[in-house]
Amino acid sequence: MVLLPLLLCCLVALNGGATNELSNQTYFVNSAVCKMPYVEPFTEDVLKHMEFKKLPKCRSDSDIIVAEYDFDLKVYRLHIREEQAMPWFKRNTTLECEYEKIVRDIKSNKVDDSFRVLYRRILTQDFLVPPDVHYALVHCAVVNGKDKRVIQSDGIAFVQDYDGRSSEELPEEIEEHPKPSVIIFGIDSMSRINLRRTMQKTFRYVQQPGWYTLQGLNKVGDNTLPNLLAMLTGYSDEDTNKICDVFVPGCLDRLPFIWKHFKDQNYTTAMAEDSMNISTFNYMKPGFMEQPVDYYLRPLLMAMKKTFNESQFYDQNLCLGRHLTFAYLWDYAKQFIQRFIQTAKPMFGLFWTNSFSHEFFDSSYALDELFVEYFKQFEGDGLFNRSIVILTSDHGMRFGYLRQISTGYLEERMPMLYIYLPPWFRRKYPRLVGNLVENRNRLSSTFDIYMTLQHLLQLNSTKNADIQPMSATCPTCQSLLYRLPVNRTCEQAGITEKWCTCRPRVTVTMEPYATPMAAAIIQQMNDGLVMKNLSDLCANFTLNHIIYMDHIIELNRKATDDDSEQYY
Ligand SMILES: *[C@@H]1O[C@H](CO)[C@@H](O)[C@H](O)[C@H]1NC(C)=O
Ligand SMILES: *[C@@H]1O[C@H](CO)[C@@H](O)[C@H](O)[C@H]1NC(C)=O
Ligand SMILES: *[C@@H]1O[C@H](CO)[C@@H](O)[C@H](O)[C@H]1NC(C)=O
Ligand SMILES: *[C@@H]1O[C@H](CO)[C@@H](O)[C@H](O)[C@H]1NC(C)=O
Ligand SMILES: *[C@@H]1O[C@H](CO)[C@@H](O)[C@H](O)[C@H]1NC(C)=O
Ligand SMILES: *[C@@H]1O[C@H](CO)[C@@H](O)[C@H](O)[C@H]1NC(C)=O
Ligand SMILES: *[C@@H]1O[C@H](CO)[C@@H](O)[C@H](O)[C@H]1NC(C)=O
Ligand SMILES: *[C@@H]1O[C@H](CO)[C@@H](O)[C@H](O)[C@H]1NC(C)=O
Ligand SMILES: *[C@@H]1O[C@H](CO)[C@@H](O)[C@H](O)[C@H]1NC(C)=O
Ligand SMILES: *[C@@H]1O[C@H](CO)[C@@H](O)[C@H](O)[C@H]1NC(C)=O
Repeated sequence: MVLLPLLLCCLVALNGGATNELSNQTYFVNSAVCKMPYVEPFTEDVLKHMEFKKLPKCRSDSDIIVAEYDFDLKVYRLHIREEQAMPWFKRNTTLECEYEKIVRDIKSNKVDDSFRVLYRRILTQDFLVPPDVHYALVHCAVVNGKDKRVIQSDGIAFVQDYDGRSSEELPEEIEEHPKPSVIIFGIDSMSRINLRRTMQKTFRYVQQPGWYTLQGLNKVGDNTLPNLLAMLTGYSDEDTNKICDVFVPGCLDRLPFIWKHFKDQNYTTAMAEDSMNISTFNYMKPGFMEQPVDYYLRPLLMAMKKTFNESQFYDQNLCLGRHLTFAYLWDYAKQFIQRFIQTAKPMFGLFWTNSFSHEFFDSSYALDELFVEYFKQFEGDGLFNRSIVILTSDHGMRFGYLRQISTGYLEERMPMLYIYLPPWFRRKYPRLVGNLVENRNRLSSTFDIYMTLQHLLQLNSTKNADIQPMSATCPTCQSLLYRLPVNRTCEQAGITEKWCTCRPRVTVTMEPYATPMAAAIIQQMNDGLVMKNLSDLCANFTLNHIIYMDHIIELNRKATDDDSEQYY
């Protein structure tokens, strides 16, 4: 009873969204060979299951220790805000703070999960952090005689200037700058539909001038790793086997990650991710043996996770120690941007958040406002004056309520992609911008993002064939800054049949042939058990009932090709 008015109000609020890419669409892509259906975000079945969660507050007290970068001295300073410790003060108490220098433990046999405390030292007021300290844990205690009680601990990352980068200032004319900085922000499991649904403020932010979207993006693999491999190496996960076995330590280091190309072009590189238990390159994989980029947050987060624990909100690990895990990640991005936005060397950064979005489709609602606040801070730092900014994801929700409803099949397969081009870039490359606009409703894949990133390093190219190397798995994939073919098939975009959303579906659950067909499918599955010699281990499947059956219609195939008929 009480819920009704609340739901109504939210429905109104949700529908009052942005104006640029609005409903009344029937297809995201509509060509002779691809009919990718538009999915409406605000349907009642989803809205009635959506919780409007609040942003968790991990701790109620304020930070005693804050890090500030001194741009004149080019050094980090740790300031102790004694007044924040007042609540703990009694007569004769003193505040005592210490820091621990944290490093990646290169001697560990699980280097990417490791960290080491090199030393622990007393912190004096406005302490100048040595340039070799990249990560620290800090602790403050109130001391009263022999009694010492730790009242706050935290982790801090320093984007140190370890090879004199920051001393080279930005040359006069940004317009003439041939190499744009490229910053990628990723939200795990966020479909373009769910972004509109749960992150309205973020959605509205990316409707501003300079932002372009690709509504025909289709995922190429099940979970994060294959989609990010496609985006960052141009390889499918199967094809990486031609290089090495990603389960073997050292293999990931050998893959041709795009940040290596950026590094070769003298970019300053960064990569970071928040949720430690589902990290893309570490979940059931050995991670990187060598630090993959110049700035890498993982050792600090590992140290924090071991030392402070994660705490749960809404059944997810949203807090790590004193703050949101997301905030440690985005603060790292902010530091990286602030430190290098004015330097001669361009930046490449990949900042991937999964903490809010991976488990439940509606938790990102809580993140929305903070997310935009960070964008506004980046704006204030000048990020959008100079850099290309990409907001993207790997796929949509793969499980849970959203996946189960009728549109879940599509939404799972439809990641989001927004590309921001700064004013100078738009002036200098109007044709590339025109192409990107043309491509909005054409079929694209994460392999194309790989080619686009390559293109940004080869802006002297005049056609896609100039861009080398091309994607190893999908040689027909291409930069999104060149025009995509209108009649592009999933195959041409490197999207396998299982993930392709181009083909229309007709529900045939009530057709008389549904039951015999289902029985035939079960038979096939049981034959499979025999074939794989699993009959001793597994009981046979039996048909209980048909939930629904869809007929997938092949487009543009020869009429005689009946093998192409598919039922799900
Ligand atoms: C949506 O399309 C229908 C039919 O073409 C049209 O009558 C209606 O005005 C459109 N609504 C909006 C919001 O554009
Ligand atoms: C796409 O295919 C359709 C049907 O085969 C054809 O009529 C149309 O001209 C093609 N469009 C382009 C741009 O090739
Ligand atoms: C405070 O410290 C002084 C000097 O150490 C000592 O004489 C005094 O008794 C202490 N007072 C309390 C309340 O502990
Ligand atoms: C990178 O910087 C080095 C040193 O400044 C320079 O010699 C080299 O040519 C640069 N490489 C590229 C690709 O710009
Ligand atoms: C972290 O969790 C472990 C195991 O639950 C517990 O023993 C430890 O005290 C916790 N540490 C902190 C700092 O809360
Ligand atoms: C990661 O942690 C969260 C929160 O504890 C949990 O719900 C999730 O299942 C974990 N994921 C994996 C892959 O272990
Ligand atoms: C970015 O550009 C805007 C508009 O030209 C300008 O007002 C602002 O000062 C610039 N910001 C920085 C940090 O350079
Ligand atoms: C672009 O510049 C690079 C480096 O100077 C050069 O190797 C490449 O051939 C050029 N490509 C084209 C298409 O001109
Ligand atoms: C299970 O299915 C297989 C293949 O259809 C069949 O050969 C076998 O007899 C079945 N086993 C049982 C216990 O029904
Ligand atoms: C099937 O499994 C049985 C029992 O484990 C084994 O003896 C037999 O060799 C296997 N056959 C094949 C073809 O793998």
